[in-house]
Amino acid sequence: MQTFRIAAIPADGVGREVVAAGREVLDALASASKSASDFAFDWTEFDWGCDHYHRTGRMMAEDGLDRLKEFDAIYFGAVGWPSVPDHISLWGLRLAVCQGFDQWANVRPVRFLPGVTSPLRKAAEVPLDWVVVRENSEGEYAGLGGRNLAARGPGSEVAIQSSLFTEAGCERIIRYAFELAATRERKHVTSVTKSNAQQFGMVLWDDVFRRVAAEYPHIESDSCLVDAMAARFVLRPEDLSVVVASNLHADILSDLGSALAGSLGLAASANYNPERRFPSMFEPVHGSAPDIAGQGVANPIGAIGSAALMLGHLGLPAEAARVDRAIEATTAAGVLPRDLGGTASTQEITLAVIDSLG
Ligand code: NAI
Ligand code: MG
Repeated sequence: MQTFRIAAIPADGVGREVVAAGREVLDALASASKSASDFAFDWTEFDWGCDHYHRTGRMMAEDGLDRLKEFDAIYFGAVGWPSVPDHISLWGLRLAVCQGFDQWANVRPVRFLPGVTSPLRKAAEVPLDWVVVRENSEGEYAGLGGRNLAARGPGSEVAIQSSLFTEAGCERIIRYAFELAATRERKHVTSVTKSNAQQFGMVLWDDVFRRVAAEYPHIESDSCLVDAMAARFVLRPEDLSVVVASNLHADILSDLGSALAGSLGLAASANYNPERRFPSMFEPVHGSAPDIAGQGVANPIGAIGSAALMLGHLGLPAEAARVDRAIEATTAAGVLPRDLGGTASTQEITLAVIDSLG
């Protein structure tokens, strides 16, 4: 029997509700497995987040990364609460883990589920399914810059926020996108930049993209500016398979993608350290949703889908597919949360997914 050690960090708001839901599904899956491929999860939960910040002045323990290092994976909820500035909560926990563990590939599938009405009319006509690959270690979220109030005085403050693009950073994420495309039915990679306006970092990205694309002649590729890409997500989504973009652009585009699929609550994501030197982290795309937190109505599908991505990473692809099919069976049966126009609670959806594991 294989036991996976998982660190759970529910953090804030609905993060707690959806991580609990995902854990229930994974535990149900493990207790139902009675074959040679038996496995179990050994959970350690960390109470890091905004409450921890109010108690201690830190979003996570000072030796947090050291404590997380030994786990097989990290299952994360969401950070952020109105009582803490968002840049403090995000940098103090989620970005600290992503960047500290060099989780440079953030993979965000956009899945259109049966029984879920997409705001895209096309979704009823053509099968849609694409995946956003986000550079997760540098770019616009490199944290470079500063504010200078002292030099210029009140009312004249200046701030500089620089992006960092390295050839190695661009190359590894672009190569990752091509390797992922090679495993998909539609072998196509679209690169997104804004290299007309941002002539240094994004032009470097474009150059690397062209060079790497030439090594994959069996995979189609094209490049698109981010503003045009936003329109293309809506107007020609059937063209998309793998979309690779910088940290900021992919962040925005993946929220757009999940909204087109029906709701932000549906979207799953994986922050991979592909070399496996550090644990990878699995989390829904959405935030802590303070507007609905504590009501038991959060959509757990993004978190459960992230648990499925974690299963794949742990070497259990058949179990991952089982969870994905159970999610499809649940939405197809009309068991939908409020954000998808239904009335089912977080718990009802979770139980329906568990029932559908088969
Ligand atoms: P949000 O994703 O928390 O919420 C946006 C909208 O989507 C809200 O109307 C919310 O009710 C809805 N929503 C989100 N998740 C849902 C779910 N599971 N089920 C049903 N509806 C859901 O984004 P917002 O409001 O911009 O940010 C709230 C806090 O979350 C902020 O502190 C922000 O910094 C943080 N945040 C954290 C992220 C993370 O930990 N990865 C990502 C995005 C935001
Ligand atoms: Mg986002």
